[in-house]
Amino acid sequence: MDAIANNVNVGPRRPSQYRDKSNLEIPNYLRDTYNWAYLNPRNVALLDHELIVSVILWGQHRRLQRAAFSELAPGLSVLQPAAVYGDFSPALARHLGPRGHLDVTDIAPVQVANCRKKLEAFPHATVQHADARSLHSNADATIAPDLYDAVCCYFLLHELPIDCKHEVVDALLANIVPGGRVVFVDYHKPHWAHPLKPVTSVIFDSLEPFAKDLWHNDVASYASEPSRFSWRTDLYFGGLFQKVVAERPR
Ligand SMILES: C[S@@+](CC[C@H](N)C(=O)[O-])C[C@H]1O[C@@H](n2cnc3c(N)ncnc32)[C@H](O)[C@@H]1O
Repeated sequence: MDAIANNVNVGPRRPSQYRDKSNLEIPNYLRDTYNWAYLNPRNVALLDHELIVSVILWGQHRRLQRAAFSELAPGLSVLQPAAVYGDFSPALARHLGPRGHLDVTDIAPVQVANCRKKLEAFPHATVQHADARSLHSNADATIAPDLYDAVCCYFLLHELPIDCKHEVVDALLANIVPGGRVVFVDYHKPHWAHPLKPVTSVIFDSLEPFAKDLWHNDVASYASEPSRFSWRTDLYFGGLFQKVVAERPR
């Protein structure tokens, strides 16, 4: 972490790379599978609480958040490619500090508006409407050539169909500076004797149809050119969760 912290431009941050794009369509997977969780404004208000995230993550949320933040030194410029319920984004903005910079993006306008409210107190943080699958390659995107020191992708991958997993992983890897890193925190196949494996399996089969991809595939396998990065994985809570860090060589 010191290496990354010592080799990036800290200090006043540049403007954010992305511009709100009102013409973005909500993808089918989000509308069909997660409408109740992320698009229905009444449910957004009901679900956006730290306690809810902690319960969904079997009490491991704070530990996993700490694991993610331990990869992100204060002062870095960080992209968070999708909103997270609870205090995750304010905590990340606080962790990065005023010499750092946080850009949160989300494809759902209701999530953008909601996250903006949560980050009002942090002038070094922005929230923008963008698709994590095409942060770099959108034909109509207004994208500066700047890259991020790091990306923090927290529990987004398991909600994406497999082709979207490939697109998002490639897009995130394309957004970091040499020496930078992408941090993925998400589900992983638990040990066969894990007491929560059967109930997690039922929840995935009924509510999270794309999550089990992560039980059978390494995150690195979604990258088109995984060998261009160095990869390391830490498992948590009997293997039910993983942190995968992809580092771009200098
Ligand atoms: C990060 S994931 C799940 C986070 C976690 N389960 C929580 O407690 O919030 C949820 C977010 O991803 C967003 N999302 C889904 N697909 C996206 C995409 N292609 N680009 C940007 N955001 C996306 C959804 O709109 C939603 O706000």
